[in-house]
Amino acid sequence: MVDNDLYRLYHGLMLPKIAHTDESLNYLQNFQVKDDDTFAVTYPKSGTTWMQEILPPLLNGGDLTSVQTVPNWDRVPWLEETRAPLLLDKLPSPRAIVSHMPCHLMPSSFFNSKAKVIYVARNPKDVLVSSFHFHKMANFLEDPGTFEEFTDKFLSGKVLFGKWTDHVKSWRNPELGDRILYITYEEMLQDLREVLGRILNFLGRELREDVLDRVVNNCTFKNMKTNTMSNYSLVPDVILDQKKSNFLRKGIAGDWKNHFSPELDAKFTAVIQEEMKGSNIKFSWDEE
Ligand code: A3P
Repeated sequence: MVDNDLYRLYHGLMLPKIAHTDESLNYLQNFQVKDDDTFAVTYPKSGTTWMQEILPPLLNGGDLTSVQTVPNWDRVPWLEETRAPLLLDKLPSPRAIVSHMPCHLMPSSFFNSKAKVIYVARNPKDVLVSSFHFHKMANFLEDPGTFEEFTDKFLSGKVLFGKWTDHVKSWRNPELGDRILYITYEEMLQDLREVLGRILNFLGRELREDVLDRVVNNCTFKNMKTNTMSNYSLVPDVILDQKKSNFLRKGIAGDWKNHFSPELDAKFTAVIQEEMKGSNIKFSWDEE
């Protein structure tokens, strides 16, 4: 496992040093979760930024002010990142928070709370492709090497936040009962309005139809791409070089078909299927 200038190890998971310090990880462990907190949890590249656009208006009667005036990382902070200690205690409730943590590394107060979680999963083949391009443009991450080399790292969990399969399985924790809603990136692409309706229902909130229409319109890929508060254009090129690849890159399902050879597809599918065996977790993409 790597623990070099770019990465640190945290309970066996590789985390980028730029975003995680001893202080931020201590803050995570001791964080006091409130009952009306809402978490959006994702494995990296599964729709985190999208949820940072979706949750504030759903929790605030459709108000789009924060998505138009506050950068996504301050609007809906990451629980485990360096900005969390600066922001979260001051953030007015109801707070929306994102996290890439596997379930067992959440703070103990989370398990004693009634806070709700929305877990967003994405086809791991598209996660891999998105992550590959992200590694090429993010100067705080190691060069991914060839796509085949990066696939091997992904399958062995030598990537940010470890194995995709471990992450997905960790969040099927029966202790969470009806505190957790499972959605997929692909469902959001297919019918965003329907998924936002499900999230509203889960959060026990309602929006007028025309207000919901505005929220849906605000968080389409096209509109997020032009929102400087959400497209990462505020981050300097030396950190995220969007000349190499946009952060909001393609926003589609199935781009993996442009990257995987039939052999790589067979290998990838076999490894993921083996690791998901016995979990009873089924995704729409398993049938493809
Ligand atoms: P691609 O690289 O495949 O385009 P995260 O925010 O978890 O890092 O995930 C980033 C991925 O989500 C990128 O995928 C990005 O384009 C996609 N994404 C973000 N907002 C989106 C939206 N409104 N519609 C579709 N995809 C979106």
